[in-house]
Amino acid sequence: MKTKLERFTMERLSEPADFEALLRRDVREGLTATPKTLPSIYFYDDHGSDLFDQITELPEYYLTRLETEILEEHADELISRYCPHELMEIGAGFARKTRILLSAMHRAGVGDAYVPIDVSDAALEHAGAALTDTYEWLTVRAYIGDFGTDLHRVPRGGNRIVAFLGSTLGNLAPVDRPAFLAEIAASVADEDVLLLGVDLVKDESTMVAAYDDSRGVSAAFNKNILTVINRTLGGDLPLDAFDHETAFFPDSGCMKQSLRANRDVTATLSDIGLTIDFTGGESIHTEWSCKFTIDGITAELAQAGLTVTDSLTDRNDQFALIVATK
Ligand code: TRP
Repeated sequence: MKTKLERFTMERLSEPADFEALLRRDVREGLTATPKTLPSIYFYDDHGSDLFDQITELPEYYLTRLETEILEEHADELISRYCPHELMEIGAGFARKTRILLSAMHRAGVGDAYVPIDVSDAALEHAGAALTDTYEWLTVRAYIGDFGTDLHRVPRGGNRIVAFLGSTLGNLAPVDRPAFLAEIAASVADEDVLLLGVDLVKDESTMVAAYDDSRGVSAAFNKNILTVINRTLGGDLPLDAFDHETAFFPDSGCMKQSLRANRDVTATLSDIGLTIDFTGGESIHTEWSCKFTIDGITAELAQAGLTVTDSLTDRNDQFALIVATK
């Protein structure tokens, strides 16, 4: 029997990015562009991760709850149908939903490894330690990297379930989706199966409430990006001058989150010597959360060379787990 230490390894897929250099570049580019934008990765400092955790528990934020429900209902049948040797997870985070699949592997006596890839070494460290603790039969080979660019660096393993959950696919701008799905397809071997969680287009008020909850956690989360920028770049962006805004765009099927200036604002980011003017009513686009239809995602996956073999939904068809193979 291997010790716990022997069962958990962590490896970097590429040189650690110089986070502050990237932030300086992205903020300068984004806030001098028209319209203004900020990349959503900067939401997730410790406080932001904590706020997002709170979002997943809000009554209005149905995504996490429904995906968990679908996984719970279908995990055993998925594992016995595909008999994976390994579970790979793209953007694993704290790997909470992963436990549902690992427990099903345990019940079926199938597979022995979990292979997560995530940008956060802290999240992987936490998940790896906790999972090797719970599952004494499990080996965790964690990879630190950006799944947008490093996916092809993850060594192949035989017969995997490759999970990409949480409708994270929807956070890509629609124009970036084809190339990214092609990357995913390239990392799925012939004997693997892709398990893709996608939020489905539904009645607008339900979607709007999920991104603009009554307790204001979504608003605080969105505004936290300004706090991160102020702290990291010596900025004085006034938080009270920006309002959280969310809207649905039916043509693209996307929810778009923004911060809208409620008055004229001039702010300075002293560390990069940048002064930015906002006119009252002007928005900074902070995040896409695109929604899908089963037919639409089936066609997009087909373009990338993947065939949908099954789509599992909750009883009200609000969220889907798409199963696809080469
Ligand atoms: N990735 C999450 C999502 O698309 C992010 C998110 C949830 C979010 N609520 C938000 C981003 C509110 C900005 C504002 O579901």
